[in-house]
This record gives sequence, C-alpha cells and structure tokens, in this order.
Amino acid sequence: MSDTGRLIPRDRSAHPVAFDPDYKTSVARSPSLPLLSLGSTPTEETGPTFGHGLIGPLDNNLVLNWTRGEAQAIGERILVHGRVLDENGRPVPQTLVEIWQANAGGRYRHVKDGYLAPLDPAFGGCGRTLTDAEGYYAFLTVKPGAYPWPNRGNDWRPAHIHFSVFGHAFGQRLITQMYFEGDPLIARCPIAATVKDRDQLDRLVAPLDMAAARPLDHLAYRFDIVLRGRSQSLFENRPEGM
Ligand SMILES: [Fe+2]
Repeated sequence: MSDTGRLIPRDRSAHPVAFDPDYKTSVARSPSLPLLSLGSTPTEETGPTFGHGLIGPLDNNLVLNWTRGEAQAIGERILVHGRVLDENGRPVPQTLVEIWQANAGGRYRHVKDGYLAPLDPAFGGCGRTLTDAEGYYAFLTVKPGAYPWPNRGNDWRPAHIHFSVFGHAFGQRLITQMYFEGDPLIARCPIAATVKDRDQLDRLVAPLDMAAARPLDHLAYRFDIVLRGRSQSLFENRPEGM
C-alpha cells in the first residue's frame, strides 16, 4: 500500500471550551493561565506497548468479568461495538480500548459514588480489549443507568459509557464518552452541552444497531471512533505509530 492520506491539522476552534460555567466543575478545572506547549520525550513516544497476553478472555465482557464468569450482571444486555479509524477512514489495529461505566441503576463502583442506587454484586463496570486487524472492537455489557450529579440542583447525566483509546504511546491517549440514541437527557446535560457543534455531539451518540443485536440475548449499539493525525506510511514501516 502507498500513503495517500494527508495529515489534517487539528481544528482547535472545533474543540469545546475548557471554561463553561453551566458545567460548574469546569470553572475550577479550566486553565487560568495561557497554555504552554511542551515537546514530547522518548517515554511518551515509545510506550506503552500492549499485546494480546495482557488481555484476559472476559476482559471485554462486563456482564461476566467482575465475577470471573460466576454470575451475570443485572441490567439490559447490550453489545457496544465499532471500529477505531484514523482521519482518513483507515482502521487502527492493535489499539487498546478501555471503557468504564455505571451499573444499570446509575451507580459506579467507586468509593466516592454515594448515589442511593445499589451496587450490583455481579458488576464491576470496567472492560478492555484490543482492536483487531480491521480496527474492530466489541464489548458485551449492560446499559448504564442515568444518574444525578450536584451541578445546578437537578442535573442528570444521560446514560453513557466512558471510552479511552490508548494508541501506541502515552502521548496519544484519547478519552471520550458515548451516549445512546434517543436519550432525552442528552439535550439537558451541561457536560454534553459543552460540545457546541451539533454534528460533533451526534457523533458521540451511538445508534441502535439491530443488525448486530442477537435475538433473545442482547441489543446492540454501534460506536465508531475516528482519530486524527496519522498517515498510512507510519502504519507500514512503524506499526507502533506516533
Ligand atoms: Fe460517568
């Protein structure tokens, strides 16, 4: 294959602003001083390297992985699947995809989550997998519940799954959230509202995918993740990329 793609510069104007008072936490978290640009180091450019030996057989099965297959998590069973693609639409293989989410009642298994919905003793809420040669990944999980959060009095997060895509270097890690088609809470969420461009927000909403649903077993949602900044020649002669 030859390299026919071109590097498309990042469009910083398309990124949500860091300071958005309707999302109260962003007031304290957003930078108060101009950003500095730091060069990357070999540590950030060469590691980590992931292999299939790192991934257990149940790691992408959140219905079973917390109990190591002993019991099933409670909730609406769903397959969340898609491809990791570069900005030119090419698959990104061997990429670590990690997810974390609340349980079906909207409760995280986290020491700081005090929501009154109960923990599910059969659900941990984390999973990971490597994309295959076509950039494809899949998780079997339960649909997370919406949950309230202390922001403006009565704000609720829409059902969502957090995603991390690690790439092949620390400097490439990307984190985002996936929402579910048809959820009326998306339009009311101050965090989702930090994404001002409707098309960008729509790309974070996974459509129901009945073609991948399994009768009498699970529904499916399709979530493709498109990355920027990688040309095909890097895939050919330097698989670890950067
Ligand atoms: Fe969350």
